Amino acid sequence: MPHQKIRKAVIPAAGLGTRVLPISKAIPKEMLPIVDKPAIQYIVEEAVRSGIEDILIITNRNKGVIEDHFDHVPELEARLAASGKDDTLQELNDITHLANLYFIRQKETKGLGHAVNCARSFVGNEPFAILYGDDVIIGEDPACGQLCRAYEEFGLGVVGIKEVTPEQILRYSSLKVDKLRDNLYKVTDMVEKPSPDKILSLFSILGRCVLPPEIFDILDQTPPGAGGEIQLTDAMLVLARTKGMTGVDFTGKRYDMGNKLGILQATCEVALQHPEVADGFRAYLKELVKTL
Ligand code: UTP
Repeated sequence: MPHQKIRKAVIPAAGLGTRVLPISKAIPKEMLPIVDKPAIQYIVEEAVRSGIEDILIITNRNKGVIEDHFDHVPELEARLAASGKDDTLQELNDITHLANLYFIRQKETKGLGHAVNCARSFVGNEPFAILYGDDVIIGEDPACGQLCRAYEEFGLGVVGIKEVTPEQILRYSSLKVDKLRDNLYKVTDMVEKPSPDKILSLFSILGRCVLPPEIFDILDQTPPGAGGEIQLTDAMLVLARTKGMTGVDFTGKRYDMGNKLGILQATCEVALQHPEVADGFRAYLKELVKTL
């Protein structure tokens, strides 16, 4: 019996982005470009391709530019129309009509768990997807959609997972997993930023989850954890230990836009596929590598 279809998504984008300072001082890291689109546009597009209809973006007082990006700019559009730049005009119009977008502010930066809890009244009483605002995943089959399908099949909370290196796991979450089939796993325990003796496996939660609405009552009871922040992982571990969760080792390439090297990798790889600049950029790179 298939479980409820996922219609709503939440994109937390209210973090301080301390790892990408100084650029994130006045520009939200979610607005950093990958060639010609900001990171958050790739994420909204992934949600839409996954069948999501309503999207709540969690921002804060420095992030109004995210709202502006998804809004009309009448003067600019009139200028493009007058000069016959119909393709560009169409592209801008498409951005404003991608999905039903809603915005709410997280008034204090108290962690990802606290940010997600700001979505309670938007979500109501149905399961929903979370796409981290600084994790861009590019692939044929949208990662969020892969998790939604796992929710519809098993009816349990779902986390997007990938194996990371022994050095990375100390900064990420670590999961206890048992393989179900193919790229699907049962998750029964997790720990955020484990000390070396607490590592459960090298599988970590990366960028995407689908959660039942019970998560909000759990978040209400979740005290600050690692780094003094209310950690979403601490709330999800209650689900993992009681009912279990499903882990999806998703297909697609993930770029961490909260990290300087991740931003450069995303720019390089997307540029090599971009119809307008791929040829010129490839030629430039070939020359450049000769000098390295
Ligand atoms: P991160 O921990 O990667 O974001 O949170 P951060 O706190 O901005 O990063 P650094 O460590 O200071 O560089 C993952 C996601 O959760 C959001 C972030 O915007 C990011 O998309 N987040 C984090 C919030 O919305 N609110 C918070 O209080 C914390």
